[in-house]
Amino acid sequence: MSMKVAIITGSARGIGAACVQVFAKHDYAVIGLDILPEGQKVAEQVSGHGGECAFFVCDVSDEKQVADCIHKVGEKYGRVDVLVNNAGVVLVKPFDQITWDEFKRTVDINLGGHFLLCKYVLPYMKAQKSGVIVNMGSVSGHVGQTDHVMYGATKGAIIAMTRALAWELAPYNIRVNSISPGSVDTPMLRGDIELESKRTGIPFEQVKKEREAEQAFQRWADPAEIAEPVYFLASEGASFVTGADWLVDCGWVAK
Ligand SMILES: NC(=O)c1ccc[n+]([C@@H]2O[C@H](COP(=O)([O-])OP(=O)(O)OC[C@H]3O[C@@H](n4cnc5c(N)ncnc54)[C@H](O)[C@@H]3O)[C@@H](O)[C@H]2O)c1
Repeated sequence: MSMKVAIITGSARGIGAACVQVFAKHDYAVIGLDILPEGQKVAEQVSGHGGECAFFVCDVSDEKQVADCIHKVGEKYGRVDVLVNNAGVVLVKPFDQITWDEFKRTVDINLGGHFLLCKYVLPYMKAQKSGVIVNMGSVSGHVGQTDHVMYGATKGAIIAMTRALAWELAPYNIRVNSISPGSVDTPMLRGDIELESKRTGIPFEQVKKEREAEQAFQRWADPAEIAEPVYFLASEGASFVTGADWLVDCGWVAK
């Protein structure tokens, strides 16, 4: 049987790069998409270890770029088994300082990116009568966080979209779930903490400690600790799981 194919957005670093490693380890042909060319290095690393991995520069909020990339994947592999909608940006600002352009960029990338990837991948999954989509939510879609209004709003929308899409796609044997991580040690989170530190004048290490304390284990997750649950949701082990949001937040919301 030919290899299963997984498309992972935001693959150049952080959680997306960890997902690339995990799916390649499980013998998927992995296609990474990102605006950062560093995604090529991630792909070469996997290929260097005998895995099948390709990378395309792609802005997930640009319909033409997404359509072209998925077309290329279709031409090469003829199928898409898994879509991990991971690419996203954070917007950390008091609400009344958010500009209309910043609002639109956050919505276009976080929500629009999920929409476009699903739109162009679904014809393959529907034709196969199989497929799994894993969307990237966040604790910010569950709890109110100061200075994260629009980020949290896009994540809440992704979780809502996941639920409705799961019902719509069940007749095609396609499962749709989301993961909502707590704090994960990635360039995004470190950038977030740096901004908060600058804005408040509180030293970086102190803000980091406070943000670590939101997790029951008093630490941030390693990106692999999110990538493994993403893989589980995509695997046969999760065959009865659809329309779910999995809080991988080390107890943050449970408190
Ligand atoms: N790090 C955390 O604590 C955390 C917590 C909850 C949810 N998340 C979510 O996990 C996902 C990954 O976050 P991360 O922490 O690895 O962030 P990151 O910034 O380290 O990586 C995100 C990747 O997405 C890419 N990207 C951004 N905009 C893009 C676009 N328009 N098109 C294509 N690629 C684009 C970036 O270039 C980057 O490689 C995001 O959706 C984020 O909201 C992160």
